[in-house]
Amino acid sequence: MKEKLRTPVAQQPLTIERPAIEDGIGSKVTVEINEKKVQVFFGQTILDACKENQIHVPTLCHHPDLCIAGNCRVCVVEIEGMRTLQTSCSFPITAPIKIKTSSSMVRKARRHIIDLLLSEHYGECYSCVRNNNCELQSLANEYGVDSYTFGHIKEPIFEEDLSSYSVVRDMNKCINCRRCVRTCIDLQEVGVLEAIGRGDKTHIGTFLEKPLADVICINCGQCINRCPTGALKANDPSDVIWNAIDDPTKHVVIQTAPSPRAAIGEVFGLEPGKSFTGEMNTALRRIGFDVVFDTNFTADLTIMEEGTELILRLYKALVKKEQVAIPQFTSCSPGWVKYLEHFYPEYIDNLSSAKSPQQMFGALIKTFYAQKKGIDPKDIVSVAVMPCAAKKFECNRPEMNDSGFKDVDFGLTTRELGQMIKEAGIYLPEMPKSHFDDPFGDASGAGLIFGATGGVMEAALRTVIELVTGKKVEDIFANADIIPLRGFEGIKYAELPIKEVGPVPKILQHLVPDWNWLKGATLKVAVAHGTANAKKIMEDIKAGGKFSECHFIEFMACPGGCLGGGGQPIPTNEEIRKMRAKAIYDEDNSLPLRKSHENKHVTDIYTEFLTDGPCGHISHKLLHTSYVKRGKYIA
Ligand code: SF4
Ligand code: SF4
Ligand code: SF4
Ligand code: FES
Repeated sequence: MKEKLRTPVAQQPLTIERPAIEDGIGSKVTVEINEKKVQVFFGQTILDACKENQIHVPTLCHHPDLCIAGNCRVCVVEIEGMRTLQTSCSFPITAPIKIKTSSSMVRKARRHIIDLLLSEHYGECYSCVRNNNCELQSLANEYGVDSYTFGHIKEPIFEEDLSSYSVVRDMNKCINCRRCVRTCIDLQEVGVLEAIGRGDKTHIGTFLEKPLADVICINCGQCINRCPTGALKANDPSDVIWNAIDDPTKHVVIQTAPSPRAAIGEVFGLEPGKSFTGEMNTALRRIGFDVVFDTNFTADLTIMEEGTELILRLYKALVKKEQVAIPQFTSCSPGWVKYLEHFYPEYIDNLSSAKSPQQMFGALIKTFYAQKKGIDPKDIVSVAVMPCAAKKFECNRPEMNDSGFKDVDFGLTTRELGQMIKEAGIYLPEMPKSHFDDPFGDASGAGLIFGATGGVMEAALRTVIELVTGKKVEDIFANADIIPLRGFEGIKYAELPIKEVGPVPKILQHLVPDWNWLKGATLKVAVAHGTANAKKIMEDIKAGGKFSECHFIEFMACPGGCLGGGGQPIPTNEEIRKMRAKAIYDEDNSLPLRKSHENKHVTDIYTEFLTDGPCGHISHKLLHTSYVKRGKYIA
């Protein structure tokens, strides 16, 4: 059955699919591109056929993650026998045709289109966040546009929308390509942005033209990642962070999540697929951060807290026959949490109360770490480098001050950190490697794979299997790699029969007497990335379908998980996200420690500070939180 899409018909994906048998009769068509004969697949667009044959055709509204819009017309080509130029991104090849991609008519048309776009564009490249990484700028450069044929706007027309902690909108730089609209409606199924008005009054707006902070934006930043210009950007706190670094009375602490290190090389022009963990640590110290911590440490702690919470929920439901919300949903993706608060508030009790690793770290830095080092927490400035735009919102949630202070002061994206490193005159790839600082130095590979879709679930299962069965996870999954949970399929599902149980480990003995109640049970888990996929699971749960029988579900707001977050380097596409995932799994494989419960620093913190154990009173105060029900149309 054809899936119901909310997109206008004109923007729906092509329905002509690539033939199943690629070399079958009629599966290929011979066309001429720039007088060269090539064979292309029946139904393939001219743009894709050109790409496969190394012929460059410029684009603006087209993005590989999104359905076709065909509205900018920059990609026009000439087709012999056709009266008008055709948009190559939306033209499926179904018969032999002769195409010219850079004839005089095509070049003139493209130049006019670019001139027209520039005539309504207000912005100075040198002060723009997308300088040197802007598709409009590259296009103007490519076509040698050196004068404003149709005039030029001298003053901004729109006021910048600075209301959101995460996303800044400057519609003076918008070219109406609607990539953000398709991202928000189709990819994320949130629907905050839409083209409003008609003709030359058309612009991108929000519900009732309200500021972004007042509508149902989940702060995922996916629209930023796909905007070709500087019209959308993250809310950048780096100036305030520089001030803190320069202030000798401040102790500036930085924690770094797994995904930025797997992508920051891209900011320096390197190919995706390599992690720069050690180099980044050195660069951060040279910039002036006083200590550098690994967020993977609190990812390990999250596994202990969230895993214990799951065990307690199951124990209450299965043994004590209490009413408990199951499946438990992960809560470390703040975009997903806000999505649920807006669209499925009746399921708030299913969200794990465990804070995200970022926020757990924030609470520990201003309590445990401050006490240990004898630093007044008010003098600590706590920064988190995240792949995520929504983390900026998360650290500003009023609930996130359990340390007695704002737990995390600033969320910095990978892009913003890359810029700070450049500003400090550092070429990151050439930095010597260095380690994270104590007392949170070591983290496991389980914490690291939080960066990829399925990673939280894999990390949780590596621990749950060993704690419950007393057996090595490697006895079930070779090399502790839980392959069914990996990959970029939108929704993944797995079942894990618990055939045998072992003794309850000491750290959990005060919570459950034995595991016999789990013997013979089958643990059912699922994973979704991108809120459009999350929606599918939520609708299934509402209808009492297969996912309502799950025990634990991982949800990540962004495509690919955190590695595809709204703060990661631009551009993004599935190939790039796969390479970042490879970098993460390669690093996990290279680590001696790959299970959260084996992290000695984690067990030590339960002895030294969180003394009543996982989900105990102290951890509940510092490491757990609550959520709020929000409106369906406005915040
Ligand atoms: S959006 Fe692009 S063209 Fe416009 S000011 Fe920024 S860099 Fe320049
Ligand atoms: S941040 Fe996400 S939810 Fe908000 S407008 Fe952009 S795509 Fe939509
Ligand atoms: S904000 Fe960016 S993505 Fe959205 S229409 Fe404008 S230029 Fe395109
Ligand atoms: S890229 Fe083809 S019409 Fe915009």
